[in-house]
Amino acid sequence: MQNHKRCFMVLGINGSPRHKVNSQHLMSCFMEEMKARGYDTQVLTAVKLKINPCIGCGNCETKGVCIFEDEFTHIFLPEMIKADIVVISSPVYFYAFPAALKALIDRIQVLWSRKYRLKMDEFKGRNRKGVLLASGATRGKDLFDGLKLTARYFFDAADIKYETSLCYRGMDEKGEMKKHLTLSEDIRDLAQKL
Ligand SMILES: Cc1cc2nc3c(=O)[nH]c(=O)nc-3n(C[C@H](O)[C@H](O)[C@H](O)COP(=O)(O)O)c2cc1C
Repeated sequence: MQNHKRCFMVLGINGSPRHKVNSQHLMSCFMEEMKARGYDTQVLTAVKLKINPCIGCGNCETKGVCIFEDEFTHIFLPEMIKADIVVISSPVYFYAFPAALKALIDRIQVLWSRKYRLKMDEFKGRNRKGVLLASGATRGKDLFDGLKLTARYFFDAADIKYETSLCYRGMDEKGEMKKHLTLSEDIRDLAQKL
């Protein structure tokens, strides 16, 4: 007999253009924890996807689809629609997200248009949740404000409730995140809340 029980899916969006470094370590720890809790996981790296930047043409506002057919359309968007939990893990670049990730975020305008202009209710009955993981080199109080705001509105366009964030200051060197003393505990607490 076939098992029709649907496994909940966690989509990770990796924002760092660097391989195996701070934000990627954050993502791996989070995904390991979610796998251990029985979730299906998948990570997409923004810089590896060929994504045209949004040109604000307004096509999605009237037709509900983007004029570009690229890896956003064919790879990212289907996974984003399927996901039950979406986690962004990213470094801070000039108090914002790195360019490749920002290009991906801007293209979510297609879901914003479907929700707010075309009044489509495509995620009705789903209880989708969003999380932000981030690392930055300095220690300023406002270091993560830009990322948190952008993440909030990115998630909202996709009908995802922004649950919480884990943001680490003072992560200057490659691999510094691996030495963080409370990371495993922080991730466990975060997963528990979801
Ligand atoms: C182009 C660029 C811009 C950056 N801008 C900031 C910044 O505004 N504030 C900050 O604290 N760190 C900044 N950083 C440092 C990174 O956020 C930090 O080293 C982070 O931990 C790197 O994460 P990763 O190892 O996942 O790439 C910047 C790094 C780069 C390469």
